[in-house]
Amino acid sequence: MSGFSISWLDLRESADHAARDKTLTHAALRFLDKPHGALLVDLGAGTGSTLRALSALAPVQRAYIVWRLVDHDGALLDEALRRHGNECVIEDHQNDLRHVAELPLGGATLVSASALFDLASRDFVDTLLARLHKQGTGLYAALNYDGRTEWTPAHPLDDAVLQAFNKDQRTGKGLGEGAALGPDATGYLQRQCTALDYAVHIEDSPWVLGPDDAALVRELIAGIARAVAVGYDLDAEALLHWKTFRLANAATGTCVVGHQDLLAVPV
Ligand SMILES: C[S@@+](CC[C@H](N)C(=O)[O-])C[C@H]1O[C@@H](n2cnc3c(N)ncnc32)[C@H](O)[C@@H]1O
Repeated sequence: MSGFSISWLDLRESADHAARDKTLTHAALRFLDKPHGALLVDLGAGTGSTLRALSALAPVQRAYIVWRLVDHDGALLDEALRRHGNECVIEDHQNDLRHVAELPLGGATLVSASALFDLASRDFVDTLLARLHKQGTGLYAALNYDGRTEWTPAHPLDDAVLQAFNKDQRTGKGLGEGAALGPDATGYLQRQCTALDYAVHIEDSPWVLGPDDAALVRELIAGIARAVAVGYDLDAEALLHWKTFRLANAATGTCVVGHQDLLAVPV
């Protein structure tokens, strides 16, 4: 899987934090509110976006949480430590998530991940959930892309581009064997967690982007155009027209990108 840069993660963070469903975030914090403190393991932690999102709603409680951040990118973990090492108890673990048996999940109260499970395969989810279930750990999976992208003003190629993009989202992204879950991530997590007798709660957490988010929207347009350029039978000239039109409207139009958050707690 290709790397995620600090600048890209920073660019999307305010939209991510605004989008996160606050009812589920508070429910996750209540689950972490244990008499002797709690251990949160954040998978694919990046620079610590989950830590910031939860801390913003619970500045006092964050001191009673051990934040175990797991990522294969040492530069992102270093940045998380630089930003928060003086104010929180952080354990940084440079691990490849694909090796689920080796992940440092021991003692975890809750495992979290944001913007990650749509990159994962069924096999990754099944192996991870088997470990979590065995040790009675909860799961908080935020910001899973759900397949919706709606633009204003509309363009005649929007539907065809979205269908191609969602197909591309289901191709293997390297996090587990085979196809990525893409837009099916939350539904699959829900089924598997329910089968393991977890209590599962799901809420929508869409990006609602407007003129203030023009830089993020431009990156999104470029990323979508790149993803669908080859292999999806879109006419190159029509796609270029779509991209040019979208970029021209990035600072004045709107874009809604659907996501869902899921909290699964053992009963
Ligand atoms: C979309 S980013 C999300 C980062 C962070 N959770 C956030 O919301 O800002 C995906 C993260 O997963 C990490 N990642 C992707 N594949 C991984 C793997 N196989 N092993 C460990 N980390 C991985 C990336 O380095 C990146 O930090």
